[in-house]
Amino acid sequence: MKPLSLVAAALLAAVADASTIGEDHKALDARAKLAYSPPHYPSPWMDPQAHGWEDAYAKAKAFVSQLTLLEKVNITTGTGWMSGPCVGNVGAVPRLGLKALCMQDGPLGLRFSDYNSAFPVAVTSGATWSKHLWRDRGKAMGEEAKGKGVDVLLGPVAGPIGRAPEGGRNAEGFGADPYLQGQALASTSVGIQEAGVVACAKHYIANEQEHFRQAGESHDRGFNISESLSSNIDDKTMHELYAWPFADAVKAGVGSIMCSYNQINNSYGCQNSKLLNGILKGEMGFQGFVMSDWQAQHAGAATAAAGLDMTMPGDTSFNTGYSYWGGNLTLGVINGTVPEWRIDDMVMRIMAAYFKVGRTLENQVPTNFNSWTRDSYGWEDQAAQENWGLINQQVDVRANHANHIRESAAKGTVILKNSGVLPLTKPKFVAVVGEDAGPNPKGPNGCPNRGCDDGTMAMIWGSGTSEFPYLITPDNALQAQAIKDGTRYESVLTNYAWAETKALITQPNVTAIVFANAGGGEGFIDLDGNAGDRKNLTLWKNGDDLIKNVSSVNPYTIVVLHTAGPVLVTDWYNNPNITAIVWAGMPGQESGNSLTDILYGKTSPGRSPFTWGPTRESYGTDVMYKPNNGDDAPQDDFTEGVFIDHRHFDKVAPKKGDKGAPIYEFGFGLSWGEFKYSQLSVQKHNVRPYQPTTGKTIKAPEFGNFSTDLKDYAFPKGIRYIYQWIYPWLNTTTSGKAASGDPYYGKTAKEFLPPGAIDGSPQPRQGASGAPGGNRQLWDVLYTVNCIITNTGSRTSDEVPQVYVSLGGKGEPVRVLRGFERIERIAPGQSVQFRAELTRRDLSNWDVDSQNWVVTKEPKTVFVGSSSRNLPLKARLD
Ligand SMILES: *[C@@H]1O[C@H](CO)[C@@H](O)[C@H](O)[C@H]1NC(C)=O
Ligand SMILES: *[C@@H]1O[C@H](CO)[C@@H](O)[C@H](O)[C@H]1NC(C)=O
Ligand SMILES: *[C@@H]1O[C@H](CO)[C@@H](O)[C@H](O)[C@H]1NC(C)=O
Ligand SMILES: *[C@@H]1O[C@H](CO)[C@@H](O)[C@H](O)[C@H]1NC(C)=O
Ligand SMILES: *[C@@H]1O[C@H](CO)[C@@H](O)[C@H](O)[C@H]1NC(C)=O
Ligand SMILES: *[C@@H]1O[C@H](CO)[C@@H](O)[C@H](O)[C@H]1NC(C)=O
Ligand SMILES: *[C@@H]1O[C@H](CO)[C@@H](O)[C@H](O)[C@H]1NC(C)=O
Ligand SMILES: *[C@@H]1O[C@H](CO)[C@@H](O)[C@H](O)[C@H]1NC(C)=O
Ligand SMILES: *[C@@H]1O[C@H](CO)[C@@H](O)[C@H](O)[C@H]1NC(C)=O
Ligand SMILES: *[C@@H]1O[C@H](CO)[C@@H](O)[C@H](O)[C@H]1NC(C)=O
Repeated sequence: MKPLSLVAAALLAAVADASTIGEDHKALDARAKLAYSPPHYPSPWMDPQAHGWEDAYAKAKAFVSQLTLLEKVNITTGTGWMSGPCVGNVGAVPRLGLKALCMQDGPLGLRFSDYNSAFPVAVTSGATWSKHLWRDRGKAMGEEAKGKGVDVLLGPVAGPIGRAPEGGRNAEGFGADPYLQGQALASTSVGIQEAGVVACAKHYIANEQEHFRQAGESHDRGFNISESLSSNIDDKTMHELYAWPFADAVKAGVGSIMCSYNQINNSYGCQNSKLLNGILKGEMGFQGFVMSDWQAQHAGAATAAAGLDMTMPGDTSFNTGYSYWGGNLTLGVINGTVPEWRIDDMVMRIMAAYFKVGRTLENQVPTNFNSWTRDSYGWEDQAAQENWGLINQQVDVRANHANHIRESAAKGTVILKNSGVLPLTKPKFVAVVGEDAGPNPKGPNGCPNRGCDDGTMAMIWGSGTSEFPYLITPDNALQAQAIKDGTRYESVLTNYAWAETKALITQPNVTAIVFANAGGGEGFIDLDGNAGDRKNLTLWKNGDDLIKNVSSVNPYTIVVLHTAGPVLVTDWYNNPNITAIVWAGMPGQESGNSLTDILYGKTSPGRSPFTWGPTRESYGTDVMYKPNNGDDAPQDDFTEGVFIDHRHFDKVAPKKGDKGAPIYEFGFGLSWGEFKYSQLSVQKHNVRPYQPTTGKTIKAPEFGNFSTDLKDYAFPKGIRYIYQWIYPWLNTTTSGKAASGDPYYGKTAKEFLPPGAIDGSPQPRQGASGAPGGNRQLWDVLYTVNCIITNTGSRTSDEVPQVYVSLGGKGEPVRVLRGFERIERIAPGQSVQFRAELTRRDLSNWDVDSQNWVVTKEPKTVFVGSSSRNLPLKARLD
């Protein structure tokens, strides 16, 4: 990673905060024409009465009141990349016995660890549409994190939300819909925190593609861009689509939020005051802390003013030994650029999140693993190669989580086509075809960060990965089932042996199960031209050819896909020889068992959390693969507004047979039953009219005091300076400028921060605010929707009734998802009641003028059914 130049960093701080610095008028003029983010200051401080945070606030206050300025700075600033056992570590408070907090990836379990589980990737978990499985998954991941001495688990993810189907990290989130993502983000966060670990909802926000997310990474790929890509998004779209799931997580009490690499309206995610101060902490009333993505911080005091609370991993860029915070933050507080209330609020937020999940100073779990080696003995300080010791204790934290993993990956497997061949019952002869059914010859963890496509794909790549404790391949599990059933079984685990494959699958009585995949992941790995984001929507390693070949000669072909998102099935899905198509997602360690459970009908499948379009163009959105703004920040205008995935398809191709209509729509998936929907009833509730929140906050509290004598902050004698480590102390106390080393040092808050940035007086509350998640009345239930679902089929099955609402009005989506439930094990002939509540928020649009949610006067209709396009019941909402 290349560090940003100082000029660029200073310019950024200025531009992002809407003041001028005067150094580079030309650049500023060019930027003035671009999308712009309005300033929002001061940064909101915690509310002692915030619902669900009262106790945590009191405990944090008692603790923070005892801290010195240096100790406070320590808690906010990472110690630097590879300086400590975890991917992120802040300083400790030895005087009061607080160990250094450990931040560890990631959204599907622990990364850079061992004796941990590899959970299903979120997109597969999303496909279960099951709130209890999300919570269980979160809890199991939280327990594993706790057992290893991790304080903050870096997940779950709802950004990217899935704007473009090729988006590399889409699969880290739960599906291409804000309501689905919101429910899953909240349930997962609750689960993680129940286990006593702080969840970190990320990436806030509009980090919808990997290309150009960071200028440095782009330089390495030959794109000489000066700054990261800017996602330019209007206010209504921001609220109704991208920010929606985060509000659910905030309401559920999530302890931390990670700000993203990209810019939004040409202001970096980690210093965008409109998004952090205005929307997240103001409107949504977020009481936890905002942590930067790794190297996503690009300025010092400006990020503090804009609402950042913790910098990760702490150094200006990896292993520089310098920090925008650390000593600079100490200086900033002493010289008045960062008000005391702001650093107090940062530490309050961090410690309140810590206490909120049930941590105490008495029950701290020392971190018992080290991210940088699997050896038992090694350097405690990897960057400095210092302090040799026992650093990996191989603590086995897996418990019985394999059961959950097997179940939830099975329940998140989607049957897209079934002409009756499934479930399999003691077939005479099964032939499995394709590399994706077998092992990676280098082992399940053979490729660092899972950055390859060798053998079966059970995970995407990048930081959102774990080391597999084992990986059950489809070949393993299907063979075991075959042996049990007396089925003859053979497999060809390569895509490149057509003669042999053909000879096998043209024998009599063969059920051919053909496997193919397509991955994706984080932008720091480029696999075959897929730099995180996929470069196309077709299958990898000749998967499409293999499927076409197999189905051209075998009339009982079953297709199994391990893909990170949609692929184009257009060319072959209709072939009558293809008797079933199964999307097995990215299932995690129990892959083969989960798949077998579905193919043999031992459990019920899930529903697609995204749309399967007929062509790449049919999605309407795409990744930007080439910079479009010269050497300056690429400008990604989100002109499609809220119309992504099913909302887009419903708009441009509402009917079956329309050009560009989906092949398999959002929410679709076959099950073992057949379900009749009937007796829709809608009950209206009398609720008080909506009252925008008014009044003012308290004045910013301060906890403790500090000296302004630089000498009190000198690096203490007797402590060894570990190479590249970030400390809160100053190396020299001759002057602030000398201690900082920043050539621009000496600017006062007035000179480079926007008006209001350091104002700690009571502030007006926003109308849409009021409690964590937003104005409490947004959750008033306006309607209850009921219907009866009857299994008219002959097998027991789960069903996932879905509620969609047409909010009405010009330019609005045809329908938006507003409710669902996975109802388990409905027996043949059995009728169950499905009930959903529609809240005020569910029926509102964001009104830009009043900056609040408004239930418009437009006629509204509720629909209930089994997918976004199969909605047999509807009723008007009066
Ligand atoms: C981005 O700019 C649009 C258009 O002016 C505006 O509606 C929106 O609120 C801005 N968002 C942010 C986060 O600055
Ligand atoms: C800051 O944290 C480091 C450990 O990360 C510790 O050595 C140091 O003593 C802490 N400083 C203060 C002032 O507590
Ligand atoms: C990259 O862009 C910078 C200006 O942003 C320019 O100074 C430099 O010469 C460019 N480098 C290359 C290799 O084009
Ligand atoms: C303070 O921040 C500036 C960038 O704003 C950086 O150049 C300098 O190295 C930092 N100082 C320390 C002591 O980390
Ligand atoms: C105060 O310290 C900050 C952080 O090092 C620096 O950016 C700023 O220029 C300083 N301001 C004054 C007035 O000394
Ligand atoms: C196996 O194939 C033979 C020849 O095509 C056919 O007669 C027989 O019914 C098949 N048996 C089964 C169990 O499919
Ligand atoms: C799509 O990308 C995959 C993976 O890199 C590659 O194997 C395949 O050939 C590409 N498809 C086309 C049609 O170019
Ligand atoms: C598909 O079959 C053709 C011959 O018909 C062969 O040349 C090609 O290699 C096969 N491809 C795959 C992936 O099996
Ligand atoms: C289906 O398979 C049979 C062989 O059993 C083959 O003759 C036929 O051409 C295939 N049909 C298609 C549409 O591929
Ligand atoms: C502080 O001094 C130590 C040596 O005493 C040096 O290694 C380190 O780079 C200096 N750090 C900063 C931020 O200036």
